Amino acid sequence: MRETERGTRNEEAATARVGTEPEARASSSSVLGPRPASPHPGTVHSEKFSFWYGPKQALHDITLTMPARSITALIGPSGCGKSTFLRSINRLNALIIGARAEGRIRLDEEDIYAPGTDVVALRQRVGMVFQRWNPFPKSIYDNVAYGPRINDSPSRAALDEIVETSLRRAALWDEVKDRLRQSALRLSGGQQQRLCIARALANEPEVLLLDEPASALDPIATQRIEELLYELKQELTVVIVTHNLQQAARVSDYTAFFYLGRLVEADATNQIFTNPREDQTDAYITGRFG
Ligand SMILES: Nc1ncnc2c1ncn2[C@@H]1O[C@H](COP(=O)(O)OP(=O)(O)O)[C@@H](O)[C@H]1O
Ligand SMILES: [Mg+2]
Repeated sequence: MRETERGTRNEEAATARVGTEPEARASSSSVLGPRPASPHPGTVHSEKFSFWYGPKQALHDITLTMPARSITALIGPSGCGKSTFLRSINRLNALIIGARAEGRIRLDEEDIYAPGTDVVALRQRVGMVFQRWNPFPKSIYDNVAYGPRINDSPSRAALDEIVETSLRRAALWDEVKDRLRQSALRLSGGQQQRLCIARALANEPEVLLLDEPASALDPIATQRIEELLYELKQELTVVIVTHNLQQAARVSDYTAFFYLGRLVEADATNQIFTNPREDQTDAYITGRFG
């Protein structure tokens, strides 16, 4: 357990801090630099994507489109590869020694696994929120300002505006506007998770990835996150891992069912939950295993 938590902490730090790594900075003129001019950017396409942890193959030939302006839920029993796939979308798994990927994942027309891809720019465009919220031990303001400060060095006024806008978008502004200088660690769990969402939004991502963001929250805090996702999908591509089937059915437009590292079936959520094509999907959603 301790190992797992430490792993998550390191990864979260990497997502936010990767901009400071000289190696990552060196490649900042490459393919994933400027945003595309497309009116609806942010569609994620996975094409025959496979992933190995050393000798162990965790994903097999995943082909899946996650459309812009919608929520795609990844469901399936524990260990089926949901987190591995989610983290592959912003190349977080590349931090693991011995890990290897094959196939492609594209963000609109850009191959995010292309050599020379700027991972700093990629992780700004594809934000990530983890199951265990863990704001930095800094003020509320400094948590949200962290990414923009590193990446753009905005003026004080511009930064104030980014912080307010991001907190508003994360439905947290009204609760914290009078105590922006207080430690983020004094917020409730649900507030800390929304702060982590605000921190991701401050980079103005096109895609937001969430790995079981509400599984450690109480029902009211969970509901707030779900309502927030509904707002965010008006502007963003949202991909959420959840082992809560009711949550997937409530919040998502599309659902992808993973089993043993393979994508069994993906379709409109309504279709998956009422009339799945595959017996395995039917068995899972009706609670016969998992
Ligand atoms: N860092 C890692 N090193 C080795 N194997 C891993 C690592 N992370 C996950 N795995 C393995 O990959 C498979 C998929 O795991 P994961 O993506 O975490 O599944 P899920 O999120 O669906 O529970 C599991 O068999 C798991 O044990
Ligand atoms: Mg997982």
